[in-house]
Amino acid sequence: MPRRFLVTGGAGFVGSHLVAALLAQGAEVVVLDNLSTGHRAAVLPGARLVVGGLEDEATVQAVLADGPWHAVFHFAALSLVGDSMRDPIGYLAANVGNGLRLIAACVRAGVPRVVLSSTAALFGDSGSAAITEDAAIAPGSPYGDSKWMLERALAWAGRIHGLRSASLRYFNAAGADPEGRLGEDHRPETHLVPLAIDAMLGRRDELAVFGTDYPTPDGTCIRDYIHVTDLAEAHLAALARLDHASVTYNLGTATGHSVLDVLHSVARVSGRTVPHRLAPRRPGDLARLVASPARIMHDTGWAPRHAALDDIVATALRWRSAHPAGYGA
Ligand code: UFG
Repeated sequence: MPRRFLVTGGAGFVGSHLVAALLAQGAEVVVLDNLSTGHRAAVLPGARLVVGGLEDEATVQAVLADGPWHAVFHFAALSLVGDSMRDPIGYLAANVGNGLRLIAACVRAGVPRVVLSSTAALFGDSGSAAITEDAAIAPGSPYGDSKWMLERALAWAGRIHGLRSASLRYFNAAGADPEGRLGEDHRPETHLVPLAIDAMLGRRDELAVFGTDYPTPDGTCIRDYIHVTDLAEAHLAALARLDHASVTYNLGTATGHSVLDVLHSVARVSGRTVPHRLAPRRPGDLARLVASPARIMHDTGWAPRHAALDDIVATALRWRSAHPAGYGA
């Protein structure tokens, strides 16, 4: 019998790519998404979409009653660091409240495994070292803290109820489905790769480079960009590991790229420069966030297959060129 999975937030950027990876394995997939930031068209035809929010306990229970589930993947959340600084309590209430409601319902329904989308934003400044899972937790935003709170809740659900869980801390997800079916469509868009591509295509104003006086070789921030398809495959690797124990993994490539590196990559891949201006720092940005993915690589054999920045940019560029209006109006 095919395995059955529930994916909250499966109409979003990373969630939709995970759904694609599950379908490719022959799994049955139900997506629960309120479409507040996700897109109906991002749910591939093989999956069933239930439009609903996690704030509604009855919806969560009704969906979970339709098991048995091999696992629940929890992507649905607010994810803008800047917004969370303006509305800290609202962000905590939404992300932690919805997550706790889901975890409690999973325990009641006997779901054996939960995989949480967590974030590198729960780490503080670690200087120039690659960030391992044991690096100091020091969220710089309510967004990052909301994910840490859910990691803690899952740890307790494991200790007391036996729920197995994987907390997956994403670094910078980017790129798009290599088959061209799925891509990144945030509204508003705040992420560097799609903004740089749009500036290059002349679809928006020049890109503002936020900060040129960081203690990095070219003065701009360094991030670890991971291809969204590699990220999806890491979920499957982590899931298999849950047969042994609960896990926490940092998901990145161990390679850092500066903001200017990204602009140069877009120029290399497209043959056109990215119009940009140098701007002040964006509040809350850390100089350098680069993962050590050594633990998941050691435990599962997973390794990024599209680690080259130009590959990440090329797939993102192909999707954005083919979908000027993203998933549509
Ligand atoms: N940047 C610019 N100009 C822009 C947009 C971004 O210079 O117009 C810079 C940022 O200052 C940063 C880098 O590009 O240095 C990457 O910025 P993103 O907004 O693309 O990504 P962040 O690293 O800020 O955040 C991402 C996710 C968060 C997550 C975090 C974890 O969006 O949800 O990674 O590291 F928490």
